[in-house]
Amino acid sequence: MNALNDQYDTALLSRLGSASRATADDYLKAAHLTLDALAARPGLLDGIALKRNPGGYARNLVYGDDDISVWAMVWDVGARTSIHDHHCSCCFAVLKGTVGESRFAAIDARRAVLKSTATRGPGYVACMLPTGPNLHQMANLGAEEAISLHIYGFDHRQHANSIDREYELAAL
Ligand SMILES: [Fe+2]
Repeated sequence: MNALNDQYDTALLSRLGSASRATADDYLKAAHLTLDALAARPGLLDGIALKRNPGGYARNLVYGDDDISVWAMVWDVGARTSIHDHHCSCCFAVLKGTVGESRFAAIDARRAVLKSTATRGPGYVACMLPTGPNLHQMANLGAEEAISLHIYGFDHRQHANSIDREYELAAL
């Protein structure tokens, strides 16, 4: 792991890992506050050699414990995820650039319809539970590289990623 090494940052995340055993509402509030604090730190990712994926996005694990894993995602221009939901909580902050987020509703086990589209800029934070409205697609809609920080409620040693199921856009 190419980890965050500032003690303040890792202490925040370690406390959040413990908070993930509290009620869902309390955890999401704590995750939101943690991401607000981390996103406000200009040098947060300094010293971390972030992987990049030309034309796509790259995931960089920067913190992990038994309860949460934290990833810095680097989005090349035009990069986008699949339409997907999550098996765990999914919280993110935009650190740099412009990240588009489209939300969907499933109409069956593999098809979804678009509900909304929004553009998220630096400092934006979202927190979602697996059972909430968490079916989405993220994309770099800007003209420059974007970076976002994601906190997922999974142990990176147990799961490869946060995705539960991927969907196709339903033709209506
Ligand atoms: Fe996601």
